[in-house]
Amino acid sequence: MVDMKISLCGVQLDNPVIPASGTFGYGREFAELYDINMLGTFSFKGTTGKRRFGNPTPRIAECREGLINSVGLQNPGVDSVIGEELPALAKVFSKPVMANVSGFSIEEYVSVALKLAAQKQVGWIELNISCPNVHNGGMVFGTDPKQAAEVVGAVRKALDSQKASGGSRPLIVKLSPNVTDLAEIAFACEDAGADGLTLINTLQGMRIDLKTGRPVIANRIGGFSGPAVMPVALRMVYQVYERVRIPIIGCGGVSSAEDVLEMMLAGATAVQVGSANLVNPYACRDIIEALPETMKKYGIETLSDITGGAH
Ligand code: SIN
Repeated sequence: MVDMKISLCGVQLDNPVIPASGTFGYGREFAELYDINMLGTFSFKGTTGKRRFGNPTPRIAECREGLINSVGLQNPGVDSVIGEELPALAKVFSKPVMANVSGFSIEEYVSVALKLAAQKQVGWIELNISCPNVHNGGMVFGTDPKQAAEVVGAVRKALDSQKASGGSRPLIVKLSPNVTDLAEIAFACEDAGADGLTLINTLQGMRIDLKTGRPVIANRIGGFSGPAVMPVALRMVYQVYERVRIPIIGCGGVSSAEDVLEMMLAGATAVQVGSANLVNPYACRDIIEALPETMKKYGIETLSDITGGAH
């Protein structure tokens, strides 16, 4: 029997497969389709201090081998997530969940992270400093090492201050590929106190409607994801693995058990699956079910042993 368990920042997971934020809501809809307790965990929708409607529509453009989204962090706001989503989730999911925290200022990141870290169900804070679809927030923090370090340092300090009351959690930072030197930003985050990294968020892209001659997406530019992105994400995981000591969650175009193994060989400890959930809502279930056979095929007994094996 193969061993698929991994440890992510000190928390044990049954397997490394994690639906990515923004592709799995707060879990409820998927729990109607299959038992989501088979997942390693999942990262819930990027949550901000206040409810957000998001960007004007159209927000999605289909592409060959992927899609572009410009959702703009639509979410019910942190208080509703705590008051409504988490209690509903508790009925269908008994594992720690990853809380994706988004924001527009350091104060907002700190306050949302603190509120979510104090919830028993939350296992990790995933600080999203890489959303390409909002102005004055998101990616602005994640494309400059100094600003990235500032927000990570502030959240780290705040979480540490809640340690005694049990309100601290490992801090994972989700980074943008839309930079020249991702390893430099990753290193700045580690230096500022990140416990782990998620690599990568979407690549900026666009499409033009030939009938109107105008951009398909109302916001003109959005974030491109899907299978076409996988080699880029893999390359970034590989490069950042050589620069940092903290665990990396590989994310970008993963849609098969083979992709999971590739990501782990590049340096990932765990792997997020994003747009594949939108094409096939059973994608994560199918990947987890295929993993044991795929491991056997490549002579892998203990999955955690292969992290970084390609170096
Ligand atoms: C969005 O809500 O626009 C997507 C979130 C993200 O890319 O971080």
